[in-house]
Amino acid sequence: MKMNQRVMTLDEFTIQELRNYPGATGQLSGLLRDIGLAAKRVNVEVNKAGIADILGEAGKTNVQGESVKKLDEFANDQLISSLQTSIYCCGVASEENEEFISFDDEFSRNSKYVVLMDPLDGSGNIDVNVSIGTIFSVYRRLTPNGSSCELEDFLQPGSQQIAAGYIIYGSSTMLVYATRRSVQGFTLDPSIGEFCLSHPNMKVPDESDIFSINVGYYHLYEKKVQKAIDHFMAKDATEKVYRHRFIGCMVSEIHRTLVQGGIFMYPAFGKYAQGRLRLCYECNPMSFLMEKAGGLAFSDGNQRLLDIKPTELHQRIPIFIGSKKLIEEVLPIIR
Ligand code: AHG
Ligand code: MN
Ligand code: MN
Ligand code: MN
Repeated sequence: MKMNQRVMTLDEFTIQELRNYPGATGQLSGLLRDIGLAAKRVNVEVNKAGIADILGEAGKTNVQGESVKKLDEFANDQLISSLQTSIYCCGVASEENEEFISFDDEFSRNSKYVVLMDPLDGSGNIDVNVSIGTIFSVYRRLTPNGSSCELEDFLQPGSQQIAAGYIIYGSSTMLVYATRRSVQGFTLDPSIGEFCLSHPNMKVPDESDIFSINVGYYHLYEKKVQKAIDHFMAKDATEKVYRHRFIGCMVSEIHRTLVQGGIFMYPAFGKYAQGRLRLCYECNPMSFLMEKAGGLAFSDGNQRLLDIKPTELHQRIPIFIGSKKLIEEVLPIIR
């Protein structure tokens, strides 16, 4: 980039968007700013991992039955307090909290948005210095402004999302979010401490040679899933060769898919009979984002993931997500 070239910050970008849509109130922009601020605070701690005492377990188990890492808790606290302090969000549901939280002060109660989130995704990667992330999802509340929010506000099908996105704490830190209109990617410029527009109007390639699934569970998957994996394994030198990737962090898998294309699959098996990944905190936001970028996301077989109406906050679901062409190849196999 040339020295005198101005890059737009996240705040500048959302304000410019407001100018283009005269009816908009700026509440969503405010919300994104809050999430961006919390993400910067989390980012600082992530970068200190190894020095500060944030590695390892917090000594607790969450409602999902998983051990909670110290950074999971830190990220959860930062995001909740950031959203609570501001006036753009009336309540939040998190992977780390059994129940949703309703912000009952006068301003928050009058806000029209609720947020669902996975504050720290891929937390098993923290101790080994591999990418981790944060996932968020925004809905317009169903209950009237001025009242406390209710469970029904959080249990809407993914197709109703107003915005969704993630922060990836990788070799650089990025915030990527989708609205009904587009998908935009911002990279944190550490010298000014701002997310700057680096990936405008992101589109997922239709085609790719990357597939991603935990093949360690191969023999535990249903036959149809084994067939889907076999589809991507070259039988001889004449067949198309796919590259296999598995990072163990959904945010990283989705980010790679968005940039390079590919397919990411997390089917049901054995102890995860309903699937491993969470519908409200992980699969819905990522499916919204993928579709807005031109990709596809399905649950079992022929069910568009975004059409599913959640029945509980911590519900899990199988997912097949990614480039259009690869999903279309896999659908007849897993149907
Ligand atoms: P979280 O750290 O938020 O609990 O989620 C981790 C998830 C997901 O990001 C990743 O794809 C998956 O766990 C990996 O699980 P396996 O190693 O069992 O495949
Ligand atoms: Mn977890
Ligand atoms: Mn997660
Ligand atoms: Mn998590």
